[in-house]
This record gives sequence, structure tokens and C-alpha cells, in this order.
Amino acid sequence: MNAPFSRGLRDPFTAFVGDEATAELVRSVAVEHGWQPEKVNRGGLRNAVQSLSVSASPSILFVDLSESADPLNDINALAEVCEPGTVVIAAGQINDVRLYRDLVASGIQDYLLTPFTADQLRDALAHAQLTLAGPRVNETTAERPHVVVAVTGVRGGVGASTLATSLAWLMGDSLGRSTALLDLDIHFGTGALALDLEPGRGLTDAIENPSRIDGLFIERAMVRANERLAVLSAEAPINQPVLTDGSAFFQLQEEMKNAFETTVLDLPRAMMIQHPHLMNDAHVAVVVVELTLAATRDAIRILSWLKANAPQARVIVVANRVAAPAMQEISRKDFEQSIERKIDILVPLDAKAASNSAKLGQPLAQAKGAAKVTQALSRLLALTVSTMDDGGEAESTTSKSLIGNLKGLMAKKTKQAA
Ligand SMILES: Nc1ncnc2c1ncn2[C@@H]1O[C@H](COP(=O)(O)OP(=O)(O)O)[C@@H](O)[C@H]1O
Ligand SMILES: [Mg+2]
Repeated sequence: MNAPFSRGLRDPFTAFVGDEATAELVRSVAVEHGWQPEKVNRGGLRNAVQSLSVSASPSILFVDLSESADPLNDINALAEVCEPGTVVIAAGQINDVRLYRDLVASGIQDYLLTPFTADQLRDALAHAQLTLAGPRVNETTAERPHVVVAVTGVRGGVGASTLATSLAWLMGDSLGRSTALLDLDIHFGTGALALDLEPGRGLTDAIENPSRIDGLFIERAMVRANERLAVLSAEAPINQPVLTDGSAFFQLQEEMKNAFETTVLDLPRAMMIQHPHLMNDAHVAVVVVELTLAATRDAIRILSWLKANAPQARVIVVANRVAAPAMQEISRKDFEQSIERKIDILVPLDAKAASNSAKLGQPLAQAKGAAKVTQALSRLLALTVSTMDDGGEAESTTSKSLIGNLKGLMAKKTKQAA
């Protein structure tokens, strides 16, 4: 019932409702949408089946299951008389997640528990209209293929989440790419916090119930930071270990691919090791390091892990929180010698910019008066997207050709060495 189809002479909306109070509510909301109140019929599911067997199906069908003894069976009867392309919203008194799931599996768009409010109905209708509108506006186009960027710190506290948030924000703000930030630090994630958002239950729900993850789920569960950036992050209860085989993460990645132009994964190193398949689709792996001995050791190991487990990903090494040479535990040169490659980007230590951006709930890339930091982050963006030009296969160390709208951005950058 869900496949969008040509909708020639269809009514936009028809409802079959059991009781008068609900009918009144549905009528008032229908009128708000410019639909005829007479299209709200009494009689529930049985009436719907009878009526639709002899007439054209509407675009949106609301059907009350309250009087049905076997809702699932009756819905299947409805499916037989209902033309493809009709979006069905059901309502009923049974509060059972299994029923909900089965209904959704049989093609129902949504299930409202009676009694429901006008707002809940408006919400459901809005989603139905979105579905009818067909391909999402955000849908990836051939000219702008989807890009997956995974950001991982070689140790905790090196600033991986800070960089992931900034990179995701810049993707939207500087490049106008619709972007999803998926924060896989399930218990202690800061993806939402850093942007002054409530994480919501979306990610936790997804892990508990991977079968529920679809395009609509993504639209509902993701929290919008702005028009171009949506976040999925969690603060899962810390008395609950995350029990998952990783299929939820894989499913989320798949759906984000359909709904956004860029996915930025904030991927803690432990998660990367636990769920190596998360790196399978990454075009770019941003490895965040600091100039310390411990980070050197772990960078060596993680870089070699990436070579073996994600050979397709272009690796970008970013040294973050870089202090003045006299304050460094290990010099850049020694670090590079040990990891046998260059550091691509250096982001200076700027405690003031970091604490300000935390206080304001803004990404570090937006920090005022921190030119060296913001320029370094712009270079990180440039290097990340340069992958899109060369197919993601290139060996990194220096910046390659950049896509058009980055030229202005790069022109602004000073001669400041990376
Ligand atoms: N360039 C920087 N200069 C100063 N502080 C920074 C910088 N980058 C990040 N921080 C700070 O470092 C701390 C750890 O950052 P976070 O992104 O949570 O690390 P991770 O995700 O790697 O554990 C945060 O308080 C953050 O504000
Ligand atoms: Mg983190």
C-alpha cells in the first residue's frame, strides 16, 4: 500500500471512524487541510473494505480498527481492495508493540492509539504527505554522491568528537550538503550536547529495535541542528551495556545514505574494533591524534588496522590540541617518523575557543577570534571533500584538486603551514 503511484482521480483523504467523538476530531483536522468533512465516514474497518471494493482509493486513508477483533487479518483484507499508492493510517485501542510492528510490516504507515489528540493526527498526516511527495528533497543526486566520513580518535580526549561535529557542521554550512552526524558513543556521546540539542531516544530505540529502522524512522528520530545538519546521538543509561550485533548501525548507515548527502560517523575506537564493518563503506577515515607518546603508539596500531580493514578509505591524520613546540611531549617530526607518514592537518590547542564553543553550544568551527583553529578545520573539510573528486582511492598527504565551491574557502586560507 505504500508504493507511490500515479494518483489521477483520487480523493486526497478518506476516513472510516468508529465513534462520533473521534469522527468529530478527524473532521476538524481534515477541514484544516482543505479536505471535505463528508469524507470522514462512520463505520470503521469493515465499512472501509466495503466502500473501497467499489470505489477508487484515496491518497490518504484513515481507518479505525477499534471494532475489529482481528486487526491484522482485517488489514490484509483491506490491502486487497486498496489500490497501490494509498498511504494508510490506522487507529485502535490495542497498545501492543508486536501488533504495531506487524501492521507496519503489512504496509500501514502509522498506528495511533485511541484516544489520540489532534496534534498526533496532524503529525501522522504530515508524514503521510511526506511519503506521498515521493523522493525526499534531500535525496542524493548523481552529481553529489553520498560521502561517508568516519572520525576516530586514537585515544579518548584527543578531540575526535569536537572535530566530527565541526566537520559535519561545515559540510552543511560551507558546502550546503545535507549531513547526518551519527554519534556512536552510545553512553557518553556529545554530538547532541555540543550543538545544544537533546539527544532524544532515537539511537537507543534503533539499537533495541533494528527492524524498525527505515526512512521514516530516520526522519523522526534524528534531531535537527539546522536545515542542513541532523544528529543522531544518545545518552544511554549507564547501567545498561549496549547489546547489539551492530546490525542497527549498519541499517542506520544505509538509511542515512538515502536521506542525506553526507554521513559523518563519530566512531570511538572501541566501537570501530567491535564493529569493523562500520568502516566498510567509509570513503574517508579521519584519524585524530595528539602529540604524545601514548597517541603515537595507538596511531601506529590504528593506522595499520585501517590498512587491513578499510583499504578503500582515504586516511587523513589530524593532530589536534597541538601546543607550542616547547610544550609538546613529542615533536611533530618524531611523531611523523614513528607513524611513517605525514600529519595532514594540525589544529592548534586553543582552550579559550574550545570552552567558548562548549558554553555556546556551537561547533568549534564556528568559534570567533580563533582563526588558526577555524582555518585548520576548513582545511580538514577541503581535504575530506577532495576525495569526492578523485574517487576516494587516492593516497593522502597533500591536498588534491578541490571541488568548485571550495576554491573561495581555500583562497581565504593563509599561508600558515599545515
Ligand atoms: N583544538 C582544541 N583546543 C583546545 N581544546 C580542545 C581542542 N579540540 C578539542 N578540545 C577539547 O578537548 C576535550 C575533549 O574533546 P572531545 O571531542 O570530547 O574528545 P574525544 O571525542 O576524542 O574523546 C573537550 O573538552 C574539547 O572542548
Ligand atoms: Mg568522543
